[in-house]
Amino acid sequence: MPSPIEGFSKLSKEEKIQWIAEHYTHDPVGSSSLIKTYWNTDAALQQLHDEFIENTLTNFYLPLGVAPNFLINGKLYAIPMAIEESSVVAAASKAAKFWLSRGGFTTKVLGTEKIGQVHFMYQGDPNRLRAFVDEIQPLFFSETQSITKNMVARGGGIKKVELRNKSEDLKDYYQLHCTFETLDAMGANFINSCLEQFAKTMQREASTSVILRPEERHMEIVMSILSNYVPNCIVRAEVSCPVEDLGSVGEIGPHEFAEKMVRAISIANIEPFRAVTHNKGIMNGIDAVVLATGNDFRAVEAGIHAYASKDGRYKSLTHASLENEIFRFWIEIPLALGTVGGLTSLHPLVKLGLEILQKPSAEDLMGLVAVAGLAQNFGAVQSLVTTGIQQGHMKMHLLNILNQMGASDSEKKQLVEHFKKHSATHNAVVDALEKLRKSS
Ligand code: MEV
Repeated sequence: MPSPIEGFSKLSKEEKIQWIAEHYTHDPVGSSSLIKTYWNTDAALQQLHDEFIENTLTNFYLPLGVAPNFLINGKLYAIPMAIEESSVVAAASKAAKFWLSRGGFTTKVLGTEKIGQVHFMYQGDPNRLRAFVDEIQPLFFSETQSITKNMVARGGGIKKVELRNKSEDLKDYYQLHCTFETLDAMGANFINSCLEQFAKTMQREASTSVILRPEERHMEIVMSILSNYVPNCIVRAEVSCPVEDLGSVGEIGPHEFAEKMVRAISIANIEPFRAVTHNKGIMNGIDAVVLATGNDFRAVEAGIHAYASKDGRYKSLTHASLENEIFRFWIEIPLALGTVGGLTSLHPLVKLGLEILQKPSAEDLMGLVAVAGLAQNFGAVQSLVTTGIQQGHMKMHLLNILNQMGASDSEKKQLVEHFKKHSATHNAVVDALEKLRKSS
């Protein structure tokens, strides 16, 4: 058991690697060498990545793939996706191709409002607090001008600072519930800086306010932070076509297929065990694009799952209908994304990803990400209600199994051919490789 270390962050990268390898791995020489294998040979590029976080040892690779043929609002896109799961990019590409000949995807941004809150405790009369907050409203705007100047010049800024009385839920608890427009920036730093200034302004003004009684003039600021729940920063993406145009999948005709799709969504709406997996499939597409475009996938995940529960039960994020012989499939999700600031201008592959996406605005990117989620869900549910998921999944997973078993390039090639005609379970792959090896 190693003893705690003081000042780890001050060690050089080499020293950190050595310490970790010696204290926490069974083969320090091998581990150090493995860590360094993942360093970039371009020292400047490596330093850029080192400085993204504290205590960087090396890089952690994820494949960056691309799903082409997405027709979105009449424009063709190839969508970059950073993800490790074998079948995700393939499923997205397949769904893109399917809808390419059926009118493609349409998207619409329904709102772009971001939220931040100052959480504070106040012991006193709520009406006097309201009068006080009303009185100091102009100061919230004037005292944040140095932070908001550029954003305001571009058409964004602070939209509203509202007092919310939460003292029925938690004794003495109130909020400044604030809304912002951050345009193409995700806006986390902007929002948090404004909130911290609101808190200072409020506390200072309260201490001398004539509206408040002396015993009410002390406010305890608990915290000032943006919210990743953005139910008014919403995008909708949709596909639709006449039912007949859906075509058949094996024995399943278009009507039956459409009905099965609608039923699958209904199940996800009433059954949380299914809804979580259903939405996980959607997040396969969403996270992959969010990551590839340098956005915060944890923020997106947290906000989207909260939105899935907004009616008091965790439900499907996608919806389907079959009316007047038209099949419609859509998604509506909150997405707070940025295409400027943060990693977007720093990480070379993020810059490339945004270039591949034709340098989207934040609103454009909301649409693209929603489409990736919708396509992913269409692909997954299409497989689930027809052939089952394993057929496609195992085909894509085949190379992982073969790599685990140390198959050579020529073995992989022969077995990929073989499993085009046979079902690829784990055991079948192991048997086939053994057989191949024996026969040669
Ligand atoms: C696997 O990553 C995702 C699926 O489970 C999604 C779903 O069940 O809808 C296939």
